[in-house]
Amino acid sequence: MKVLVIGGAGYIGSHVARRLLDSGHTVTVFDNLSSGLRINLFPGAAFIHGDILRYEQLRAAMRETGAQAAVYLAAFKAVGESMVKPEKYSVNNIIGTIHLLNAACETGLKNIIFSSSAAVYGEPKYLPIDEKHPTNPENYYGFTKLEIEKFLGWYDRLKGIRCAILRYFNAAGYDVDGRIKGLEQNPANLIPAIMEAACGMRRELQIFGSDYDTPDGTCIRDYIHVSDLAAAHVLALDYVSGNDKSLTVNLGSETGSSVTEVLETARRVTGREIPAKITGRRAGDPARLTASAALARDLLGWKARYSDMETLIRTSWAAYHTN
Ligand code: WQD
Repeated sequence: MKVLVIGGAGYIGSHVARRLLDSGHTVTVFDNLSSGLRINLFPGAAFIHGDILRYEQLRAAMRETGAQAAVYLAAFKAVGESMVKPEKYSVNNIIGTIHLLNAACETGLKNIIFSSSAAVYGEPKYLPIDEKHPTNPENYYGFTKLEIEKFLGWYDRLKGIRCAILRYFNAAGYDVDGRIKGLEQNPANLIPAIMEAACGMRRELQIFGSDYDTPDGTCIRDYIHVSDLAAAHVLALDYVSGNDKSLTVNLGSETGSSVTEVLETARRVTGREIPAKITGRRAGDPARLTASAALARDLLGWKARYSDMETLIRTSWAAYHTN
């Protein structure tokens, strides 16, 4: 299938583009390179330097490539920033997706794969979180994702555009075959922060709180390998295009790891000391988050293969160590 990967030069986008190519799809990456990197582009994929906020550019890209499907991975995703600069998130995330939907209507593109987030759920009412869990985002980033999910639902009903909504938990790791070279710029997430501390790019890891109601006092999260996420995108594309039907699924490993466990695994795998300091809690962090991925298993036949902490750290370290 001809697939437009919007944001395909970014961290998750490049992994998805790679997997689509590996599965025999014809891929065009559409990216404004604001945080995406040229080094993440593959010779097997075409590249259009374009911006999702420039409606004509996006529509032209769909027309020129004859895209039958689009994967949308061009959102801003820094939770903290979204609380101080909501305008930026409104324009890029919400207006960007409306452009995508309207361009799809105009060009006859029928299938969209959308990166949503566990942030749509907010503070968990029960664990593990399944797709029936109430949605109540506690940050503006999560709010934009939930609003977009609703737009997608309406365009499904009114325009027959089928959509896979993929609610990622904590994406981490690098391509298991080491083919993605570009490192995320200014990462705020735990595993890249640990990697930067391990190779001296930052002085130390700050551990945001050790007084949570968890066995070791640090927060527990569900880390999912990007190679597993990428595989789910390809399966989701097969599902929506093959069944002419939309779906919403969680993507997580169904395993919880605490900050201390992640750090200790990183120390062991990298052989580095990795300086760390316990600081105060970060606002808005729930103590525990874990996913139920049963629906993705049932509908897509998907299962996390690379999301054990050892592999998450080993593949991250390979990327940081060599690059
Ligand atoms: C993980 C744990 C931190 C950095 C976010 C979004 C979520 C999804 C995934 C996109 C927490 C602790 C972190 C550090 C630390 N994103 N931590 N020191 O907040 O669970 O999830 O990314 O869709 O929507 O909210 O991820 O990696 O920031 O934090 O101690 O330098 O690590 O407090 O407990 P989070 P994270």
